[in-house]
Amino acid sequence: EKDGYDYFMLKEIAEQPKAVADTLLGRIDPSGSLTLDELRITPADLRQIDKVVIVACGTAFHAGLIAKYAIEHWTRIPCEVELASEFRYRDPILGGRSLVIAISQSGETMDTLMALRHAREQGSKVLAICNTNGSTIPRESDAVLYTHAGPEVAVASTKAFLTQLVACYLVALYLCQVRGTKWGDEIQAVIKDLSKISEEVERVLETMEPVRALARTLAGKDTVLFLGRHVGYPVALEGALKLKELAYMHAEGFAAGELKHGPIALIEEDMPVVVVVPSPRNRSLLHDKIVSNIQEIRARGARTIVIAEEGDEAVVPYADHLIRIPATPTLLQPVVATVPLQVFACELAAARGNEVDQPRNLAKSVTVE
Ligand code: F6R
Repeated sequence: EKDGYDYFMLKEIAEQPKAVADTLLGRIDPSGSLTLDELRITPADLRQIDKVVIVACGTAFHAGLIAKYAIEHWTRIPCEVELASEFRYRDPILGGRSLVIAISQSGETMDTLMALRHAREQGSKVLAICNTNGSTIPRESDAVLYTHAGPEVAVASTKAFLTQLVACYLVALYLCQVRGTKWGDEIQAVIKDLSKISEEVERVLETMEPVRALARTLAGKDTVLFLGRHVGYPVALEGALKLKELAYMHAEGFAAGELKHGPIALIEEDMPVVVVVPSPRNRSLLHDKIVSNIQEIRARGARTIVIAEEGDEAVVPYADHLIRIPATPTLLQPVVATVPLQVFACELAAARGNEVDQPRNLAKSVTVE
C-alpha cells in the first residue's frame, strides 16, 4: 500500500499535487467565483463577523498562522491564531460576531475539540477545516470545509498541511466575496494563482534529489535552525517541528528579525541554518531584510541552506546550499516552500535510522488533553 515508496510519508509527500488539486476541485467556478457548499453559516452571518479566531495544534496550528496573513490582508477582518490547548484557559473574548475556525486533520484532537466547544458556548460560530469525514470536530461545528487530502497514514502531517493552507485561502477569499471586500483584480489574480498551485507543487517535487543528498550529509548534526519572515516564519516553525518529531534533533524556528534579539548567540561554526526567503518581487523590503539576515548569520559561521524563488539572484553569494522553488505570490508561497522542508526532515530521519512513519512517543491522533 506504500506504492513502492519506502515510507508512507514519502508517498504522502508525492500525493500533494493531487491533494491540493482535489481540495480546490469544484470550489472555484469558471467565472472565478467561489462556491463553498458545505459552509452552512449564512452570508448574512458572515457579513456580521468582526473577528476571526483560529484554533489548532501542531502542524495545523502552523497552517492557522499562515492563514492569518491571508485573512487579514484580503478581508481586513482582525484574525487571531491560538494553540487550542491554551485557548479556553485564558477566558478568551468571544461572542456572536466571532468566527472561530478549528483546523484538524483527524477531526479528533481533544484540545481542538474542547476549544471549539468553549467557543460555541460563548455563542460563536465555528467552522471546521478537517480531513476526516464524519469525525467529531466537524460534527460539532456549524460549518465544515473538508480538505480532500485522502487518508494520511504517516504520523507526521504533510499533505494534510498543504490542503489546510488551500482551505484557509478559500475561506478567506469566500469571506471577501460575501462581504464585498476587495473583490476586484487582486482577488481575481489570487484565484488564478491558486488554481495553478498544484502544478507548482509538482514542479518542486521534481527537484528534490539535491535536498535528499544534503539531508544525508547532516545526519550527524545536533542542531538545525530555521528562519523566515512574514509567511515564511510559520513555514520555518513547521520545518523545525518536522525535524524534531522525525529526526529527534534540536530544531528551532525563528522570525529572522528576532535573531539580533537573542537567537543569533546560538550560531556556531558550521551550524546548518535553513532560511525561507520571500519573493523578491512585491515586498522587496522584506526580501532585502532577509538577505541581510543571511549575511549576518553566515558571517558568524552558519552553514546557510537557502530556499528561494527561481530567478532570485540576490541570495546566491550567501547561500552555501540553494534550494529553488517556483515563483508564487508571497501569501501562497508556503504551499511550495514547505515541501523541501518535509523532504529534508524525512530523509534526515531515515539517515539517522529512525522510524519515519511512526516516530517515538507520538500518535497520529491525540485524543487526550
Ligand atoms: C505534526 C503533526 C501534529 C498534528 C497535531 C494536530 O506533523 O502531525 O502536530 O498536526 O497533532 O492534529 P490534527 O490536525 O489531527 O488535529
